[in-house]
Amino acid sequence: MAYRFSNHTKEGPLKNIVGQSPAIQRIKDLILQVADTDLSVVIYGESGVGKEVVARALYACSHRSRGPFVKVNCAAIPGDLLESELFGYERGAFTGAERSKPGKFEIANGGVIFLDEIGDMPLSLQSKMLQVLQDQEFCRLGGQREIKVDVWVISATNHDLEKDVEEGKFRQDLYYRLGVIKIYIPPLRERKEDIPLLCDYFARLYSQKYGLNGFEVPRYLIELFMKYHWPGNVRELENYIKRLAVLGDFEEVEREILRFSKALSPVEKTLPVEDEFLRKIAFELARAEQGSFTFKEIKKRVLALVEKKLIDIVLKQTDGNKRQAAHILGISYKALLYKIREFEEMDL
Ligand SMILES: Nc1ncnc2c1ncn2[C@@H]1O[C@H](COP(=O)(O)OP(=O)(O)OP(=O)(O)O)[C@@H](O)[C@H]1O
Ligand SMILES: [Mg+2]
Repeated sequence: MAYRFSNHTKEGPLKNIVGQSPAIQRIKDLILQVADTDLSVVIYGESGVGKEVVARALYACSHRSRGPFVKVNCAAIPGDLLESELFGYERGAFTGAERSKPGKFEIANGGVIFLDEIGDMPLSLQSKMLQVLQDQEFCRLGGQREIKVDVWVISATNHDLEKDVEEGKFRQDLYYRLGVIKIYIPPLRERKEDIPLLCDYFARLYSQKYGLNGFEVPRYLIELFMKYHWPGNVRELENYIKRLAVLGDFEEVEREILRFSKALSPVEKTLPVEDEFLRKIAFELARAEQGSFTFKEIKKRVLALVEKKLIDIVLKQTDGNKRQAAHILGISYKALLYKIREFEEMDL
């Protein structure tokens, strides 16, 4: 059972994590439980779900918040540079090293090092990383002196690290070392109850920032947002609201969301998708709702789908005999052939 910390003094820093879905509440509880432990943490989740927000909250809730928070993006820095970035170097360690430079591990001493996109760390560096984490000490590149640091290691990734381990792309021992605590942040589409809160939060944030007092996301847009699948997660939502706060182009945003959310149209969701026929009808109705086709076009397609279904049923009864089917349907043989060709052309 998750532990509740309702009156905990450290709730302040958690305010930056907006949301009250069970998943987010569990994450907040977990943050409070591990904040002062130094246990290594890996934060998982799709792009834009809030991994960095959680990493910063862990830091802010811990006694290390008096120390530095140092972020290293392992995907943005090429492999050999990454090593010197993390561990620093002494003068003359390589051509161009004209003076010595401390690495991020040293800079993070007494605080947190946040290894972002850890799944992109090259294998060659992973073994050194493991050694450093085990010994809690290392040398700068080209250096002799052992440097000891006291750093809390928090990592994040949108990779499936377990799969990477299976495929030999990520060292298993490092995976265990980095992820004593695992925090998974589900995508926004799986915690839609957070959407209204996030809308209010970003609306307040950006109306203050851009001086547009009283800006609110209209109810109908929030309802539409609740139906959308948010491939870019919270970041995508934040960007829409930022844009609305500045441009106020509500209709344009509505149209965009409708256009992008084809697959998740409410009509389509309410009908059983396993049934091919119903799925096709639902898709046409969803198109009608989205306004991307005229009602006249949609009507023609929906009626044609129904007629095609009926013809299929009759053809089954006649074992595919078209003349007999035409007779049962009360149309001429030629008319039946014409219809079948038309259905093919309409790609039904
Ligand atoms: N629960 C939340 N409450 C408030 N803001 C959030 C929340 N989750 C995400 N955000 C905001 O959404 C944006 C994306 O979040 P963040 O950078 O933490 O995502 P990420 O998972 O690290 O993404 P990426 O994998 O692309 O690096 C940020 O601007 C962040 O402030
Ligand atoms: Mg990030």
